Amino acid sequence: MKNISLNIDKVAGFVSKETIAAYEPQVKACMETLENGTGKGNDFLGWLHLPSSITAGHLANLKATAQVLRDNCEVVVVAGIGGSYLGARAVIEALSNSFQWLKAKQDGPVIVFAGHNIGEDYLFELTEYLKDKKFGVINISKSGTTTETALAFRLLKKQCEDQLGKEMAKKVIVAVTDAKKGAARVTADKEGYQTFIIPDNVGGRFSVLTPVGLLPIAVAGFDIEKLVEGARTMETVCGPTTPFAENPAAVYAATRNELYKNGKKIEILVNFNPKLHYMNEWWKQLYGESEGKDGKGIYPSAVDFSTDLHSMGQWIQEGERTIFETVISIEKPEHTLQVPSDSENLDGLNFLAGKRVDEVNKMAELGTQLAHVDGGVPNMRLIVPELNEYYLGEIIYFFEKACGISGYLLEVNPFNQPGVEAYKKNMFALLNKPGYEEESKAIQARL
Ligand code: PA5
Repeated sequence: MKNISLNIDKVAGFVSKETIAAYEPQVKACMETLENGTGKGNDFLGWLHLPSSITAGHLANLKATAQVLRDNCEVVVVAGIGGSYLGARAVIEALSNSFQWLKAKQDGPVIVFAGHNIGEDYLFELTEYLKDKKFGVINISKSGTTTETALAFRLLKKQCEDQLGKEMAKKVIVAVTDAKKGAARVTADKEGYQTFIIPDNVGGRFSVLTPVGLLPIAVAGFDIEKLVEGARTMETVCGPTTPFAENPAAVYAATRNELYKNGKKIEILVNFNPKLHYMNEWWKQLYGESEGKDGKGIYPSAVDFSTDLHSMGQWIQEGERTIFETVISIEKPEHTLQVPSDSENLDGLNFLAGKRVDEVNKMAELGTQLAHVDGGVPNMRLIVPELNEYYLGEIIYFFEKACGISGYLLEVNPFNQPGVEAYKKNMFALLNKPGYEEESKAIQARL
């Protein structure tokens, strides 16, 4: 079976292959640091050998709980934010029918997301939508105290109990949280919800292969065994015994760091398949939170092509030359659709008649790559044979491993996120949260 692969041919005019190859000893050292747990953030390395440590029994437990929700719910609300949200959404959206909302009959529950914003209209409209539905909730929070998620869960818990009764609500509310601490744990234990644990040593953005991602993905009806199997393959392929040139995570980490050193401060993750939109979002969090610190770090940005070629395409072609692109290229679509012939040919498209839509898309991809390289934008391609659970598992682990290596190459702690606390402190002070009295006074004085 083919694996995902990385092609860096189109960075050659910007940084030489020899320079990238010269990263080998540094990358090796970073990989050893990860393996030996001797680097910064070494208490958050649980993701490194997670795929190979997941047991069949664990997956069976997750599937059994997922089945309860599938059997009893028309809708399941997945509540979480950041690392407790994006991985599940990325995989579910990548695998779902684009028009699932319009399907009259679902094979399983509709999955919706909450707890990732504080939009009053969003939450109001969600509660309206749920009004006449049998719905369940997966409450995901590692700390168990995240305001966005806790607030949404407070509303959802009440509505679920009001609509279904307390006993039934207990059956369809599941918590994914810390083993011991946090409000989500306290509530789950008090109410007797089924719970799954987020391991202490796995940070949010590296947690998609824990129950944080696996439970919602299983509830959506997708094959979590295949997802983990793909990740497991990449754990080996991207492992410390693979030679540098054959290790895509090593080569990707080295190439993006060399581009960064050469003034390419922004990386744009590109897809030519709208189903990958949330994969972009997941990737942005993974790299943004891991590397953006100590005044350093590539800015991770993302676009959906060809849609955004009609908006951001101008900037990418001719704006400031501080960017490079990484394209996730899906080789084979799931379906076949040909361009029909038209006797009048008023739109002039008969030259495409009989061709597959994907052939047009692929030429858009190739044409864009050549144009952007000509315009001064280095280009890498992550080639993915098909968009399915197995290859999504490969993509996830590949990017996670490369992120760990890349963060160490950059000499930052890739596993903390001290910067995200600043807004929380101000918000709590502005809202007069108990315990924030001094901060409240100080912030009021600034207004
Ligand atoms: O990556 C991270 O650590 C964050 O994005 C968290 O996942 C996010 O803030 C949610 O935290 P929690 O799961 O504690 O609610």
